Amino acid sequence: MIGKDIQKAVRLLNSDQVIGMPTETVYGLAGNALSEKAVLRIFKVKNRPRFNPLIIHLSDVSKIEKFADFSHPAARRLAQHFMPGPLTLLLPKHKIVPDLVTAGSNRVAVRIPNHPLSLELMRLLDFPLAAPSANPFGYISPTTAYHVEEQLGDRIPYILDGGLCGVGLESTIVGFEENDIVIYRKGGIAVEEIEHIAGPVVVNTHSTSNPETPGKLQQHYSPTTPIEIGSINEMIAKHQGKNLAILSYSTSQPQIDRSHQFQLSPGADLDEAARNLFLALRYLDGLNAELILAELVPEEGLGRAINDRLRRGAAKS
Ligand code: TXA
Ligand code: MG
Repeated sequence: MIGKDIQKAVRLLNSDQVIGMPTETVYGLAGNALSEKAVLRIFKVKNRPRFNPLIIHLSDVSKIEKFADFSHPAARRLAQHFMPGPLTLLLPKHKIVPDLVTAGSNRVAVRIPNHPLSLELMRLLDFPLAAPSANPFGYISPTTAYHVEEQLGDRIPYILDGGLCGVGLESTIVGFEENDIVIYRKGGIAVEEIEHIAGPVVVNTHSTSNPETPGKLQQHYSPTTPIEIGSINEMIAKHQGKNLAILSYSTSQPQIDRSHQFQLSPGADLDEAARNLFLALRYLDGLNAELILAELVPEEGLGRAINDRLRRGAAKS
């Protein structure tokens, strides 16, 4: 059931239920991070392996210290600039955070989502919310309440409707190793923006999806229809006669039926492209085409995170 009733969401979360929750990045599947029962429910509903840890969501930067060591100067600087917002910090965890949430790791991922409904909701709770993206494990993240309803609606009692997600890509995950600032997932804040505030970073996007066996979960964010990446015109020529769907950055293809095309941003704006990416993949996946032909976008700003998702979506397992 979809709605805007915050009190109902509070009641459900207080009784260890899990609900769909809007954020500015993607919708989350939220539950009490300090309740084993609720966290186990999250893993079960999502069909997510237990070794893949969860981000905890808080309403305010001042609450981070309760759950993690927040003394790293770069962490504090990044928080000051980007929280609330699409940034997740990986910090040494305090005992209060259950091992189930961090999958046994001594670091916890912390984020303050910049969405008025979820901020209001979290201010009414006396615990943080563990929330992975509200998609079945391996599929594309949801950017509307309806996406969540479609895929998980029969497994959860409520989805708080906060409209279309304004960013449309998951948060950028940043952690600290010895002297390095490491980006573990490219996301809603561009690498350049992080570097502007914190200085040079190392990008290591292979270890976070599965801390035990780095890189194993390369295929992620996948529609059911196979994706091929390349030059759209060349791929159309190569796959003549097939039922094709086209994902382009800003141009359209006159030789292909319009209903089988999605332009991420006709005005070639990377923020708009990011906001549309998962919508586009879901739409094209729904066409029952044989193949989605996609082109990469410029490798700068949010384009780096968009291309990361496209490459992972196209990766063969
Ligand atoms: O934008 C977002 O971050 C969304 C919204 C709902 O907040 N959440 C999200 O969660 O994308 P999820 O679970 O789909 O992705 C979280 C990523 C996973 O790849 C997980 O492995 C990594 O963060 N992660 C979480 N806790 C971690 C930890 N303690 N150590 C290493 N990686 C961690
Ligand atoms: Mg996810």
